[in-house]
Amino acid sequence: MNKNDLIRKAIDARSLSYSPYSHFAVGSVVLTKDGKVFAGANIENSSYPLGMCGERNAIYNAYMHGYKKEDLVCLVIAADTDEPVSPCGACRQVISELYPEDAPIILTNLKGQDKETTIKELLPYAFTGEDLK
Ligand code: THU
Repeated sequence: MNKNDLIRKAIDARSLSYSPYSHFAVGSVVLTKDGKVFAGANIENSSYPLGMCGERNAIYNAYMHGYKKEDLVCLVIAADTDEPVSPCGACRQVISELYPEDAPIILTNLKGQDKETTIKELLPYAFTGEDLK
């Protein structure tokens, strides 16, 4: 599965978004070492804080199929933004717990722009389980 195929799948996943309040559809996919692709989209609620972001749903989808942090090799997030979409702070925290620190994260938009980064770059000095010891 190449980068462009993954970007296409993340953009396609936006069609699964339930976002009647923000009208801002986010699609995401995560690729596993053995070549499986798990999608997620943002799912909102009339009680606003109960909504869930697209990239968290994609990662949770992979976990719900038995995959773990070390199995995940690429994460793509897509939205209709001026610049490649910037994941929210809550998602950065979840990604730092559930996704490898050096694995690529591709941020993209509908204009064909993309930016490759890592969670280490997106969330330096993260709070982790180590801090609870
Ligand atoms: N959203 C995501 O799905 N991912 C992000 O990283 C940023 C925000 C969603 C949450 C909400 O449904 C909508 O976008 C507007 O904030």
